Amino acid sequence: MIFDIINKKEHKKQLSYEELSFFFNGYLKGEITDDDMTKLLKAIMKNNLSIREIYDLTDIFIKSGDILTIPIDSCVDKHSTGGIGDKTTLIVAPIVASLGIYMPKLSGRGLGYTGGTIDKLESIGVNTNLTEEEFINGVKKIGFSITGQTKNLCPMDKKIYALRDVTNTTENIGLIATSIMSKKIAGGAKNIVIDLKVGNGALIKNKKDAKKLAKIMINIGKKYNRKVVCVLTDMNSPLGSNIGNLLEVKEAVLVLNNKVRNKLYDLCVYLSSVIVEVGLNISFNSAKEKVIDAIESGKAYKKFLDFIEYQNGDLSLLEKRQEGYQVLATKSGYIKNIDALKIGILSMNLGAGRKNKDDKIDFEAGIVLNKQVGEYVKENDLLCTLYGKDEFFQDINQYFEIVNRKPKNKNIVISIIR
Ligand code: URA
Repeated sequence: MIFDIINKKEHKKQLSYEELSFFFNGYLKGEITDDDMTKLLKAIMKNNLSIREIYDLTDIFIKSGDILTIPIDSCVDKHSTGGIGDKTTLIVAPIVASLGIYMPKLSGRGLGYTGGTIDKLESIGVNTNLTEEEFINGVKKIGFSITGQTKNLCPMDKKIYALRDVTNTTENIGLIATSIMSKKIAGGAKNIVIDLKVGNGALIKNKKDAKKLAKIMINIGKKYNRKVVCVLTDMNSPLGSNIGNLLEVKEAVLVLNNKVRNKLYDLCVYLSSVIVEVGLNISFNSAKEKVIDAIESGKAYKKFLDFIEYQNGDLSLLEKRQEGYQVLATKSGYIKNIDALKIGILSMNLGAGRKNKDDKIDFEAGIVLNKQVGEYVKENDLLCTLYGKDEFFQDINQYFEIVNRKPKNKNIVISIIR
């Protein structure tokens, strides 16, 4: 049976619900080996899943564990498909919570070159191991709470995702849709806003695939009575200035204190506005006004502080200073692009991410970009500073595309699909 199922997928045939359930549940129970599951995943990478197979597999993933019910109205979940320097959850959750939206966030750790919210929060000592009761109480009291995946929520995704990561089987639309939507549906929120990253630093490299994935996730949502909105956003350059756990929390705090105007700020305002629009059922423009006011009035930052207190974080850790390696520009010109993937891999090597599941993170490691895309840089200006393992300190001028003519300003938001 195991061989027949792999063989069927290798020969481009569709698998039935029963066959998918037998194989994936067998793997979860330890009756199917990593090797056999890898063969099936590789066959799926090559020949894809049909829409019906994606629906079936999502259902099987959801039923592999508990399903949370969140006893709160105006509840919106946000998910990012992962990128470099993506600290939006730390900014968006307090903004929308300060406007009456409830956001229960079950987040993951980073693996490979993409970061995870849980690691970022642990860099300032936040307790991300809440019981279900503490989690729900946090959402009720503050408006949002962030914790790691509970043991019983989509255990199948947890096991398969870990295997996909080490077998080069992450970049498949059907597998991504199944993985994201099963977690979101089991997580309980009725409204789901997905930040779908597109570009060389993201799992999805082009707009065509991103649109296809968005449509599939929206349709899965419909089947489970969930409203799904996908915001396609650019991930060819890192998001914001700081990459690395503690460094990213520092930048999030600056945005919440209204001290930053960059693509990160633009994206957080946009995503928050969509969430407030959906959660309060008002127009996008009124939502945006409220969002900007929440930042400018300090309401959003106050929520962030309430959250840090509830989950025992320690903001004094942000004061830590360390020696870094400064990279100076070797020529003058406008920055057209900063290679997100290369920056992500270097940041991981510096100690900010894990190459293997059990690697230990250096919370202070990472990269601060002193210049952003579109800015003019003069020879010998500071381009960026590297922190962490000094054997990876190096000149990275080649990660920066520097041109003579000012490049056209590209919006961070590519499109919205509902
Ligand atoms: N995020 C997920 O949760 N799963 C994927 O497969 C990709 C991104």
